[in-house]
Amino acid sequence: MKEWAENVLKKLDNKLTAECGRMGEKIPYIAEKGVYKKNMIEENLSWWTNGFWAGMLWQMYHATGKEVYKETAEKSEQWLDEALVRYEGLHHDVGFMWLHTAVADYRLTGNPDSRRRALHAANLLAGRYNPAGRFIRAWNLDKTGWMIIDCMMNISLLYWAAEETKDPRYSYIAGSHADTAMEKLMRPDGSCNHIAVMDPRSGELLELPEGQGYASGSSWSRGQAWAVYGFALAFRHTGDVRYLDTAKRAAHYFIANVALTEGIALVDFRAPKEPVQWDTTASACAACGLLEIAEAVPELEKELYRRHGEQILKKLEEKYCNWKEEEDGILQFGTAAYHRQEDTHVPIIYGDYFFTEGVLRLAGKEFGIW
Ligand code: GLY
Repeated sequence: MKEWAENVLKKLDNKLTAECGRMGEKIPYIAEKGVYKKNMIEENLSWWTNGFWAGMLWQMYHATGKEVYKETAEKSEQWLDEALVRYEGLHHDVGFMWLHTAVADYRLTGNPDSRRRALHAANLLAGRYNPAGRFIRAWNLDKTGWMIIDCMMNISLLYWAAEETKDPRYSYIAGSHADTAMEKLMRPDGSCNHIAVMDPRSGELLELPEGQGYASGSSWSRGQAWAVYGFALAFRHTGDVRYLDTAKRAAHYFIANVALTEGIALVDFRAPKEPVQWDTTASACAACGLLEIAEAVPELEKELYRRHGEQILKKLEEKYCNWKEEEDGILQFGTAAYHRQEDTHVPIIYGDYFFTEGVLRLAGKEFGIW
């Protein structure tokens, strides 16, 4: 497997070096016909995916030592400063945005500006905590009582801040949120809801509406991947075995579903048979989560999680990767949401990020961003 991963790493290096060479003053999101046409600095600087490009480059810098990755990643981090200044438009995904930029930079280079940026973002995230319902508010405007499964990935920023400042308030908030997510978002069969709406004053659960999946009560696969990886990370940060058990339950459900489709996730595991819609980003993220669980469990359990993670990554490479260096975007057939036709079956930047992280994990060269 290591040899396979080393070979794919060479392809990643060639492709990403070429992308860096033509990126210019840009933060990429979705490649359209092999080109990153939209520039997220202009389209939406506060968009939740704006850290993944830099995160992927920090992973590659750590693995290869090539300066071009570091220099290109640093530019994204600097552009995002303006999003902190604007403030409006930012929500709980400040975790995704600044873990992959500032925290990664600080961990690798010790840059004090990066530490300041990351702590600023961590305080924004902590400020979204609702003490009555013990959850981190996801989105803005009238969504005062909304929490979503995706935030299990964002809370790593709080665990980092707690460690960095020795201030337990951050880990307290992260843990409270994870407990509520376990109680309100996870279902007994290991599947999860995307969204839970609480009364923001009493904290009482009001409803479980449809999110980016097919419908309320269905099973959005990327949300499921966030649960697999997010709870595994919560275990890594706390050692609380309830989180590991939850990650395993979510993983078993994911594995059972993708067993029907050679490891490639449908956008929703409980949608009508037609139309067939894939989301390779869910598979790539879940593969990283499975490899994370494999590190956490005792020796005799490791193979189950590791083998499934490996098989998913191998299948993604075999069927869905575009290695043409003159075209942008690696992992094809990502889908942003079940009902968003325009962003269906496209290469999305977070798909490339998780695929890269997964391959580097198998090569033993990954860098701990979360
Ligand atoms: N965090 C939003 C998504 O997964 O699309």
